[in-house]
Amino acid sequence: MFWRILSRIARRRGSPPQAPSLALLLATGYTVASFAIVAIITSLLYFGLASNLKKLSEQILADELDVCRALIQARSNDSRALREEVEVDSAVRRYQKFYIRVLDDKGHALFTTPGMDQEMSTGRIAQEAAGQNGNIFWLKASSGKPYRAVVTKVSRGSAGLDLWTIQLTMDLSQEVEVLSQHRIWIWGVLAIAAILCPRMGIASAKWGTRPLREVSETASHISSSTLSARIQVQSYPLEIATLANSFNAMLQRLEDSFVRLSRFSADIAHELRTPVNNIRGEAEVALARPRTGEEYSDALGACLEESVRLSELIESLLFLARSESPGDHLKKKQQDICALLSAVRDYYEASALESGITLHLHCDGAVAAQVDGPLLQRALGNLVSNALAHTAAGGAVSLNAAKQSQHLRIEVKDTGSGIPSEALLKVFDRFYRADPARTRNSGGTGLGLSIVRQIVFLHGGDVKIESQVGEGTTVSLTLPVSGEADV
Ligand SMILES: Nc1ncnc2c1ncn2[C@@H]1O[C@H](COP(=O)(O)OP(=O)(O)OP(=O)(O)O)[C@@H](O)[C@H]1O
Ligand SMILES: [Mg+2]
Repeated sequence: MFWRILSRIARRRGSPPQAPSLALLLATGYTVASFAIVAIITSLLYFGLASNLKKLSEQILADELDVCRALIQARSNDSRALREEVEVDSAVRRYQKFYIRVLDDKGHALFTTPGMDQEMSTGRIAQEAAGQNGNIFWLKASSGKPYRAVVTKVSRGSAGLDLWTIQLTMDLSQEVEVLSQHRIWIWGVLAIAAILCPRMGIASAKWGTRPLREVSETASHISSSTLSARIQVQSYPLEIATLANSFNAMLQRLEDSFVRLSRFSADIAHELRTPVNNIRGEAEVALARPRTGEEYSDALGACLEESVRLSELIESLLFLARSESPGDHLKKKQQDICALLSAVRDYYEASALESGITLHLHCDGAVAAQVDGPLLQRALGNLVSNALAHTAAGGAVSLNAAKQSQHLRIEVKDTGSGIPSEALLKVFDRFYRADPARTRNSGGTGLGLSIVRQIVFLHGGDVKIESQVGEGTTVSLTLPVSGEADV
């Protein structure tokens, strides 16, 4: 509500609406709430007092009326008692000023409290009482004083001789004075509340939002070189401590990503430098002196080989970068997984044969899944190429696929050199090679398993690697199966 009002004012002034500060909202909320509470309580007290005073004066009027009625009805022959009641100044009347006038059946005043005629005439009261049906009513005297009055008819004597009228009025000046003094008090209290409530609201909002300001202060000083800074949460209230903890956790994640990114950039530069240096070296050596056609051809061949390696590396990096950005990279289709594995086997069969390794394929019946065929083929190709690269002649590599309830499990198993357990945790990291000297020479970039993991994650699956040094390695992919294929 408050925010809407501020936005409207800002729009009218032509400036873009800006969210009000939390301290301002809290201070305003506190001020409005506390002022409203003070105003409600003081008003309730005032109306309570007014109602009690009214009840009290009505009670006095009723009691006095009862006395007069009793005197007229029961002691109709004893006019002295009635005269005393009406005309003699009593202690009660001095405190609660009321006037009585008793009229006979012809409307002539029989008894009148001294001073009543100056305040209000018989006719004036009769006129005001018309239509009140004997109820108590309010009227203003000729002096301007407020009165509460009641008029009633009483039959004289137990035999009901004739009908007399009692006019009873009560001066309300005191009651009005008390109430007006209370009103002054209430205005005073409200004026003090109007000054104190905003001040207390601002002070408590400032005090309450102090930790937030400290958090934002810390946040404003954080840059790429100070990502290790953390907010000290111990002294903060629970809500702010939770926020600060989340903020610290976010900083931790940012720091981790930043470190990973820096390492990755350094790795990329390093990996690109090797083939570029090789190409440059080959070209410099070739141009150092005149060469035969065959020597130039060899140099160009070496340059081409390095260029191919370079473009493969760039292509792999591009693939990883693209697959991490949001968007649907997959072109999923219902695929016969056995046919896909068989294509991978056919592709690597010749090279396995050349290395003296047996390449098996075990497919458990008709296994089908919604996958991006070329991408999955690429992942499996990376795994088979790793297996072949780390298995000695006479060893075996097997490709297995089986359906397990709602999942498809594909395994690439070899009887090769295996991976040491300390390296096993890092093999999915980009540019990681368990045996750098060997794999770099054989052209490995250390991106193969990262790409496998990325492809599996894009399919909503999972990848695991198990290995025993000297016994072999098994990489298993678990992919969700969303439908059966017509195979
Ligand atoms: N089947 C395996 N047997 C033994 N070691 C393996 C096996 N697969 C992977 N590794 C180890 O894990 C490392 C990372 O493998 P990855 O496929 O990511 O990179 P690479 O094969 O070195 O290079 P790339 O695949 O990018 O050409 C390899 O360098 C290798 O040391
Ligand atoms: Mg590899």
